[in-house]
Amino acid sequence: MALVPDYPIKTARLRLRPFTRGDVDAVYDYRRRDDVALYLFDVALSRDECALAVRQRISQVALAREGDKIILAVEHKDDKNLIGEVSLIWRSQEARQVELGWIFHPDWQGQGFASEAGEVLLNLAFEAGDMHRATARCGTNNVTSWRLMERLGMRREAHFREHKLFKGKWDEEYVYAILRREWRLSRQQEQSVPINRA
Ligand SMILES: CC(C)(COP(=O)(O)OP(=O)(O)OC[C@H]1O[C@@H](n2cnc3c(N)ncnc32)[C@H](O)[C@@H]1OP(=O)(O)O)[C@@H](O)C(=O)NCCC(=O)NCCS
Repeated sequence: MALVPDYPIKTARLRLRPFTRGDVDAVYDYRRRDDVALYLFDVALSRDECALAVRQRISQVALAREGDKIILAVEHKDDKNLIGEVSLIWRSQEARQVELGWIFHPDWQGQGFASEAGEVLLNLAFEAGDMHRATARCGTNNVTSWRLMERLGMRREAHFREHKLFKGKWDEEYVYAILRREWRLSRQQEQSVPINRA
């Protein structure tokens, strides 16, 4: 089933929306940083590379076929600061599998914003998107990322040891996942973050 969300998507503190041309400086502000790039496949990006990334993201707003990506800018609702980005990649159409991702500016980390945006991704995947399973992966040293996966109710399913080279060194990777029925059950029990569409 295709996933074509209505934007913006609002949560208690955030507004998730498609990227626009005006976002390049805000993206450069976090993607140029080595501490942000540490566990990403990319190295720290130049402004030109950020401009290219933003251009690509402008049209990454819906899942029409396997391999498509939704990559959304995350704004703080009050001051409209762009504080990070989240992604949903359609890994398998037949098996209804998606992969989640997130990158936040360090100034806006540690306040639950990534968790709040991550809930939106799961909501999109399992409600409008009718997906069966959502996964996420990170380096085992990327503690903030796997802790986020656990906050979202995802289960550690795999620890790949030295399965590839990452930036010239052996990579250790965790894979986390949650099934739609597990998500439904846990959110019924906990009451999920409310999402109000504009
Ligand atoms: C991975 C990443 C998005 C996690 O961000 P984060 O800010 O740690 O995650 P959250 O927004 O959920 O914040 C969680 C922290 O805020 C705290 N917090 C405060 N208010 C909160 C709230 N209302 N709800 C949830 N957590 C809250 C939590 O206790 C937690 O702190 P702790 O880790 O000290 O326990 C971030 O570290 C990042 O962008 N890293 C660089 C890019 C990257 O590596 N991306 C992932 C590649 S796999």
